[in-house]
Amino acid sequence: MSTVDEKLAKSLTAESTELIPYLPYLLQDLWELGSSPQDMIDLITKHASVSRRTRLLDLACGKGAVSVNIARTLGCSVKGIDILPEFIEFARRKAAEYGVDALCEFEVGDINQAVKSETNYDIAILGAVGDVLGSSEKTISLLKNTVKPGGYILIDDGYAKEQSNSHCLTRDAWLELFDAARVTLVDEILITDDALSSLNVEQQECIRKRANELKERLPRKAYLFDSYIASQQAECDELENEISGVTLLLRVDDR
Ligand SMILES: C[S@@+](CC[C@H](N)C(=O)[O-])C[C@H]1O[C@@H](n2cnc3c(N)ncnc32)[C@H](O)[C@@H]1O
Repeated sequence: MSTVDEKLAKSLTAESTELIPYLPYLLQDLWELGSSPQDMIDLITKHASVSRRTRLLDLACGKGAVSVNIARTLGCSVKGIDILPEFIEFARRKAAEYGVDALCEFEVGDINQAVKSETNYDIAILGAVGDVLGSSEKTISLLKNTVKPGGYILIDDGYAKEQSNSHCLTRDAWLELFDAARVTLVDEILITDDALSSLNVEQQECIRKRANELKERLPRKAYLFDSYIASQQAECDELENEISGVTLLLRVDDR
């Protein structure tokens, strides 16, 4: 199995790449897979001037919840790229359903390749994608290459809480990294504990139901689906106890 597959599994909280073929089934009831489209829209509206000519790149766009909602609320063009063909198909259907298919382009692809060829965007988005592009330093530097000078980067990630054992960076460590990378933190929205726990409960219920259906159909693979439910729960617990989920708006400095 390649590193790309391992990171893909990890980005969707699967501990084993063996789960990859089942992820579209397990996640079929969810549209939003990580980031809050509303928080991203609020940050863009508050700080960037957008028009139909504004071009956004949504890397690892999942099922297109962020892209489609941005296109329909702000009327700008969005290109979304994700490695799972089923997710891209779903995103295209949603764009058509909301009447924004002319503004949205969805493509199946590996974002490690896309960051080399996709350039000159006004805003690049990386929502709840973890370390698919590498370390945090490398991720920021690759994202910078996709936007114009003075353009913006939106990232959904997390701050490690004080004294946590999380692998995440603390807010101070992020700020140091931004300074070194010559990007400015313009604004941030922290997810509230209440919003997070109700979302977690709702999503866990949907996933558990689909995992139980798969267990009935494929009893020999029950261990796989049980492990998915367990790792989802562990991720929810980590998000509630060790990390503060945050959406960050960064501006790429001209200097
Ligand atoms: C937690 S989901 C977040 C999806 C979306 N950004 C959102 O916030 O709703 C992580 C996404 O990363 C995608 N992904 C993982 N590795 C990838 C890669 N190398 N290239 C493109 N997409 C990738 C997965 O398919 C999945 O859709």
